[in-house]
Amino acid sequence: MLLRHAPDLSEREVTPRDLYVNRRQILAGFGGLMIAGAGNVQAAVKSPFSTQETPTSLKDITSYNNFYEFGTDKSDPARNAGRLTVKPWKVKIDGMVGKPGDYDLDDILKGMTIEERIYRMRCVEGWSMVIPWNGFPLASLLTRVEPLSGAKYVAFETLVRPSEMPGQAGLFKILDWPYVEGLRLDEAMHPLTLLATGLYGENLPNQNGAPLRLVVPWKYGFKGIKSIVRISLTDKEPRTSWNIQAPQEYGFYSNVNPAVDHPRWSQATERRIGDTGGLFAKRRPTLPFNGYADQVAGLYTGMDLRKFY
Ligand code: MTE
Repeated sequence: MLLRHAPDLSEREVTPRDLYVNRRQILAGFGGLMIAGAGNVQAAVKSPFSTQETPTSLKDITSYNNFYEFGTDKSDPARNAGRLTVKPWKVKIDGMVGKPGDYDLDDILKGMTIEERIYRMRCVEGWSMVIPWNGFPLASLLTRVEPLSGAKYVAFETLVRPSEMPGQAGLFKILDWPYVEGLRLDEAMHPLTLLATGLYGENLPNQNGAPLRLVVPWKYGFKGIKSIVRISLTDKEPRTSWNIQAPQEYGFYSNVNPAVDHPRWSQATERRIGDTGGLFAKRRPTLPFNGYADQVAGLYTGMDLRKFY
C-alpha cells in the first residue's frame, strides 16, 4: 500500500476516498514525497486541521464565485473561466529569497507532500462555504526557496491575460490588474496557510482559481488570491487589491472579526451557502478568526485589531 510510505501518516486519518485517490499517485523514491500522478486527481490525505462540518456541495462551490477577471456576477466565473489555459503554468518567485526563479508548477508539485484540508472559508458579503481543499502548505514552498533574513512579507500576483480573461479586456475597469494580495511572513508560514491546487480530490476548477490559489482560513475570502503567477518576498507591506480599491473598507489584515463591522454591513453573522431556506435561512454567528483563534490569535498579540483591520 503506497500510503504507508507517506510521512507522519499516523497522525492523519485516511478515508476511503483518500485510498481511492492515492492509488493513482506515484511515490517518489525517497522521504515519502509524493508526485501528483496521471489523471485529474489529487492526493487527499486528510489534515489534522480538517473541520467536521458538512462540506458545501461541489455545485455551490463551483457556481457561486468571485473572480472579477471573468466578470462581476457570481455566476460569471463558472460561465467564462473555462477558456483559461492552466497548463503549463509558471510561478515567478523573486525578491528576498536565496533561490529566485521561474518555477513550473508541475516541478513545484513534485516532491511536495500533498495534503487535504477541509477549511471553512468566508467571504466579505457575510456568506460562508465549507470547502474540501487539496494543496500543500505555503510554508513548504517558501522554505524551499529560502527567505532571506530581512524578508517580512509575501506578495502575490494573479495572471494578466486579457485574451482569456474578459474582465481584464473590457472598457470598464473593474479593478487594477493584476489582482494582488499579501501576507506577513509569519502568517504565510503558518501551517493553516495553504496553496490550493484542487478541491474534492480533483484539480481546481478554473472558476475557483486554477491551477494555484491561496487559502488563508482565518481571513475573509478575498485574501484567497486566485491563479497565482508571482510570489515575492519583501520587507515592505504589500499592496492589496481591495485596499487599493476601497481603503476605508478593506485593510491589509482582513482577519475574520465579528466584533468589527464593515462600514456598510455587520460582520457578526454569516449565511452558509446551501443551508435550506436560501436567502431566508437562519444566519450563523461568525466566530473570531473564523473559528481558528486557538491556532492564530497569537500572531496578533498586542495589536489593536480595530486599527489593523
Ligand atoms: N482572486 C482574483 N485573482 N480575482 C478575484 O476577483 N476574488 C476574491 C478571491 N480571490 C478574486 C480573487 C474574492 S472577493 C473572494 S470572496 C474569493 O476569491 C472567492 O473565492 P471562491 O470563488 O473560490 O469562493
